[in-house]
Amino acid sequence: MDLRGKTLFASGFHSPERGTIDILEDVLIEIGADGRIGAIHRPGEPNYRSIRDARDETGELVSLPAGCYLLPGFVDLHVHAPQYPQLGNALDVPLEDWLQTYTFPLEARYQDLAFARRSYGLLVEDLLASGTTTALYFATVHQEATRALVDICLEKGQRALIGKVAMDNVAECPDYYRDASTDAALQGTRALIDYVRGHPDNGEDRVLPVVTPRFIPSCTDATLKGLGAIAAQCGCHVQTHCSESDWAHGYVLSRHGATDTQMLDRFGLLGRRTVLAHANFITVDDMELIFTRQAAIAHCPLSNAYFADAVFPLRAALEKGLQVGLGTDISGGPSASILENCRAAVLVSRMLESGVDPAVTRENRGAAAPAQIDFRDAFHLATAGGGIALDLPIGQFTPGYQFDAIMIDTKASNGTIRLWDELDRGDQILQKIIYTASAANIASTWVGGNHIV
Ligand code: GUN
Ligand code: FE
Repeated sequence: MDLRGKTLFASGFHSPERGTIDILEDVLIEIGADGRIGAIHRPGEPNYRSIRDARDETGELVSLPAGCYLLPGFVDLHVHAPQYPQLGNALDVPLEDWLQTYTFPLEARYQDLAFARRSYGLLVEDLLASGTTTALYFATVHQEATRALVDICLEKGQRALIGKVAMDNVAECPDYYRDASTDAALQGTRALIDYVRGHPDNGEDRVLPVVTPRFIPSCTDATLKGLGAIAAQCGCHVQTHCSESDWAHGYVLSRHGATDTQMLDRFGLLGRRTVLAHANFITVDDMELIFTRQAAIAHCPLSNAYFADAVFPLRAALEKGLQVGLGTDISGGPSASILENCRAAVLVSRMLESGVDPAVTRENRGAAAPAQIDFRDAFHLATAGGGIALDLPIGQFTPGYQFDAIMIDTKASNGTIRLWDELDRGDQILQKIIYTASAANIASTWVGGNHIV
């Protein structure tokens, strides 16, 4: 049911601050006509009962069914929309070969608008069914196909940030798939920004444009500099890959004698609304620079296992105060689910801490830096962390924030959650949701109070 102008009686969880879960039990969430949360009332507050009765009388009260819990919708900070058809394929070669052999040929197909529409439609539906209410998308170099992705997100109601990919470096990009020139890369970027901002169905800015240099190797210096100027002029988000693999990191070092982070900064591409995908090989100085610029990182734990030859030092980044969220990196990661990436984030953090050398034990590990995170941190990254990274009011149930939410049905007969009423309490319920839920447990999705699925 559409929830604009309604008050929702529900229980659920959110994590505005990393490390803590705020348990919402039998709360009343007032949702405004604009889709934003107006107020949250908890049992025990003096006017709770009267508000509930009054809303019930006017027919504005909507109650979540028994066994259902409300979570903020997931934020996916890194998706290659055109790579959806190869999700779960081509995971066995290094990044530089994977791009040339599999990925560029696939992305080149989006020249065909009918193919683009079919693929993008299925992707957006799959992501919504997986609970992703906001996605930060790389599209392709193509103007028409990228516009189709904008149209599809608006039609289906997903909150999205979308960039036409810029890649014009003849040395690294094949002739059949690249921007024809620096001018084409820059004009194409501007054209997409204008299209998104002028779209007649985008009055609420549900879709935002993103300046999207693929990564430094695929762009000329002139394009990187021009894109930095466009980002400053238009106040857009920026997304790119940063120090993902040893090859990608080494390429930039040898071309520029500086790291990705340093170069992005010099090109004007490192700011409060920049999201850097991966960042596995960033140095201590890079971390400092990212912190100073208030840029964010999309941590893609599943993808990193296949393409990065490294594990992102997540806990160190969080303790330094960096803004981090999660990304599926479709199709570098073989899953479209942010829940799967929550699990992977916890798993790889534990392996990073324990290491792979059986001679290293808890007793003799000494002062090795702690690297573990837990399900609370992962849940935060998947929701509020992603919202903070994007500088958008999403990912938490706080007055003024968008009502972007999912309903988890723990009793769904084809679902994978087993709750024990006499055993499971408080945030243990959330823990089970994070570790065991499947798409079948995601029973409803709202974006800006609109019922989507
Ligand atoms: N680096 C440049 N392009 C890509 C891409 O499509 N996926 C990943 N994982 N890394 C990249
Ligand atoms: Fe990527």
